[in-house]
Amino acid sequence: MQRGHRSATAEFSAVLRAIHMVLDPEPCIFVDPVVQPLLKLDRQALATALQGQQATAVRYGDPQYAVRVAASLRMFTVLRSRFTRDAFFESGLEQIVLLGAGLDLSLASETDVPVFAVDHPDTSRWVRGLFADAGLPVDNNLHFVEMDFAERPDLLLPTLAEYGFQPDKPAFFVWLGVQPYLTIEHVLQTARVVGSCPAGTQLATDFLTPDTSWSEIGERVGKLLQDSPHRELEPFKSYSDPAALKKQLLACGFTMARSVEAEEADALYCSERTDGLSYPNCAAMILAEV
Ligand SMILES: C[S@@+](CC[C@H](N)C(=O)[O-])C[C@H]1O[C@@H](n2cnc3c(N)ncnc32)[C@H](O)[C@@H]1O
Repeated sequence: MQRGHRSATAEFSAVLRAIHMVLDPEPCIFVDPVVQPLLKLDRQALATALQGQQATAVRYGDPQYAVRVAASLRMFTVLRSRFTRDAFFESGLEQIVLLGAGLDLSLASETDVPVFAVDHPDTSRWVRGLFADAGLPVDNNLHFVEMDFAERPDLLLPTLAEYGFQPDKPAFFVWLGVQPYLTIEHVLQTARVVGSCPAGTQLATDFLTPDTSWSEIGERVGKLLQDSPHRELEPFKSYSDPAALKKQLLACGFTMARSVEAEEADALYCSERTDGLSYPNCAAMILAEV
């Protein structure tokens, strides 16, 4: 993230989720109730955005794959949000921290527990401005926390406490679509802070896998992401092998780390689908517990 620039990828991720919600066939894997009014995106705008993505995807291999590459690109954001939502409701935890929240705030409207949306100051202000512009009320349990957690990860818990977070109680941390923008040192520094929270604390996160392990549609999605114009202001800085990252998390204070890779993600959420939506193997998710 560069000072003075709000995250464009936060908007891009939200648009991908909205495209799925509005344009993909039923059943919808993840519903995001606020993104359309916040970004003022009607069906036509989403259809135009999708056509643009499919046109870009044509550059990555045979044109017949473009529709599947664009579909897999949106599953990259849709499935991580769904996986996280399911894990949160299974956890029974009573406070949520969204690290690099962007516009993925839907848990706040689905639960009464306090939700702390931590984001880079420029992005956080932009998100609050969107609520104001749209005249949408902010859920009472949603607290916006401005901070750059790569700059001072040691300040994360004290800063959260100022907003009502209870550091002596376990929490559910969500860290989606953020790791690639941090160096592995910054990833592990933040993981150590979360790993220092009370037993029972959980972390749901996703990351890009090394490009040597990508194949087929996943490889095209990965290359499309790497070549995106967003990389100028938000370059990728880390890729992680799931097994290696699990080990690193265990060394950061977690007692359990389970990865969910493309095959399992598809089996969990896409097995009954006939529309070809699938999670790309350029990414993976982890659920870890302290
Ligand atoms: C790709 S967006 C993902 C947003 C959201 N989690 C989602 O899944 O839609 C990356 C988010 O990470 C935030 N971010 C990146 N680096 C950050 C940092 N060092 N400190 C705080 N936020 C950061 C950006 O502002 C942005 O909201």
